[in-house]
Amino acid sequence: MRTPVITLNFKTYRESSGERGLALARICEEVAQETGKSIVIAPQQIDLSLIAKEVGIPVLAQHVDPVGEGSFTGHISPAAVKESGAIGTLVNHSERQLSHELIRLTVEKCREVGLESVVCANDIEMGKVAASFGPDYVAVEPPELIGGDISVTSANPDVVSGTVEKVKEVNPKVIVLCGAGVKNGEDVRKAIELGTEGVLLASGVVKAGDPKEALLDLARGL
Ligand code: G3P
Repeated sequence: MRTPVITLNFKTYRESSGERGLALARICEEVAQETGKSIVIAPQQIDLSLIAKEVGIPVLAQHVDPVGEGSFTGHISPAAVKESGAIGTLVNHSERQLSHELIRLTVEKCREVGLESVVCANDIEMGKVAASFGPDYVAVEPPELIGGDISVTSANPDVVSGTVEKVKEVNPKVIVLCGAGVKNGEDVRKAIELGTEGVLLASGVVKAGDPKEALLDLARGL
């Protein structure tokens, strides 16, 4: 991913499912082209392959399992995600939490197949643990602020700057993002000011009356 970045997680919202997900992905692509800013999307797993083929912006999975190719049923293999055209994946999202060992294995598997990993962390401590596994990104998102109206950058700026500081102590190469309640360009501007290289968000765009306008506003903060 090119940073600074706006990363949009489609979650399983109705507004970002199927055809509506593809339409939203096209809006993201349009805004990325018009503004020259880096916008990355994480569509629903079921739509991943289609969307990755249809749009020219980077696409992430929302989750992968640390399995190889072969006798594994009902798993999402990193190799298949890579082949679908995705460039990386979220790992350990607050709504899809994993044990530390599974996070470690997932990051390792992603590296093996050439997928970037964005490991989510609920707090500073978890940010440190995540960084120790050597992912490409750590995204700090306090769960109590997810889906809310107040951005983490205003409600808890210390968790953002604290995560940047601790992650860099563990591994200076790991890039830090933040999310939860991020809605507008001012939130993005603060996120950058607090030391991150971008944001991870969902409802501020997916649930917006005018997602394109919401994205344009976010992009102005980068
Ligand atoms: O992955 C993004 C996320 O959990 C934050 O969600 O709706 O607060 O932007 P939201």
